[in-house]
Amino acid sequence: MFQKKVIAGLRPFALSEFKVAVEKIGQGSFGAVFLVESKHEPGVFGALKVFFESKLHERGVLEAQNFEREQRSLERVKNSEHIVTLWDSGQLSPDFFDVLKSSNSDGKNFRHGRFLLLSYCGGGDLFERILASENGLEPQVVISYAKQMLSALAFLAQKQIIHGDLKPENIFLTKDNVLKLGDFGFSYVMGEKIPQGGRIQSRYYMAPEVIRGQVPYTSAIDMWSAGCILYTCLTKELLFRVANDSDHLILIKSLTEGRRKDFLASEIIFKGFIENMLVEDVSRRITAESALGDPLMTSPVPKPIVRMVPKELLKKFDGKQTAL
Ligand SMILES: Nc1ncnc2c1ncn2[C@@H]1O[C@H](COP(=O)(O)OP(=O)(O)O)[C@@H](O)[C@H]1O
Ligand SMILES: [Mg+2]
Repeated sequence: MFQKKVIAGLRPFALSEFKVAVEKIGQGSFGAVFLVESKHEPGVFGALKVFFESKLHERGVLEAQNFEREQRSLERVKNSEHIVTLWDSGQLSPDFFDVLKSSNSDGKNFRHGRFLLLSYCGGGDLFERILASENGLEPQVVISYAKQMLSALAFLAQKQIIHGDLKPENIFLTKDNVLKLGDFGFSYVMGEKIPQGGRIQSRYYMAPEVIRGQVPYTSAIDMWSAGCILYTCLTKELLFRVANDSDHLILIKSLTEGRRKDFLASEIIFKGFIENMLVEDVSRRITAESALGDPLMTSPVPKPIVRMVPKELLKKFDGKQTAL
């Protein structure tokens, strides 16, 4: 039973407090994400991430690990401003399962499925924002996003958590343009053994030590991704548009040895700031905490302008797999 009125979003919500009517908002290899609305507080939305229960043993194990890693990490960082909030998690109840089954072609795979109920980010993701821009985001917008992303990364480092898959697709925005890190399915606790030869992170944002499999990794791998992301925010280009490990390492070498002259040439105020994140030597790569002390981060910035993504553009780019 609902007891007292509280300010929306400031308390944890249980899945039972949400209406069963659902709309699919995201699809991944793990399962799907649905939008749900509170029964008692109209306008309070949640993102219900449901994981497949695969019959194939191997796949089932992977999905279970994905769920457990995300649940564990988000439990550790509850109520941090720039990380998606986990409200509830567990096994899907039969009434939710029935609706998912009837509304969704994959629904039958959700029987006994596990869920994460997350605070909903209604402003899309950073990937969509970058695509919608003409030639990259405005510098003052990038500064604001950088501050928010780094403050989340500094908090994660303090909690000994490595995000492990930082990229624009996994950085969400609320309707008020507050940045939140999401998708902790590849997150690890520092020092923990990483299976599959240590392969984590997505190609374009992969740190050199991950390409080489030099475990154990540290929070520094997320800082490398952060540098790549900021470059993409400013230029609408991928810094490392490569398809395999050897090309990737060659491109990293040419960048760090100063042979790539175009690097950030036109965005001079960001040059040193981003280059400090793209240092190959892990012990010399800047930490999130130190990067937050950079003059670029400490001077006041005007509020960013929210630009909504035109629908035609989203259709044109057809999903999230398209390279920028
Ligand atoms: N809290 C959330 N608020 C809004 N949309 C979300 C939220 N969580 C996930 N999504 C949407 O669902 C998509 C897939 O979720 P994500 O957690 O990134 O899983 P994966 O990439 O492993 O499939 C996201 O790209 C985003 O569009
Ligand atoms: Mg994702």
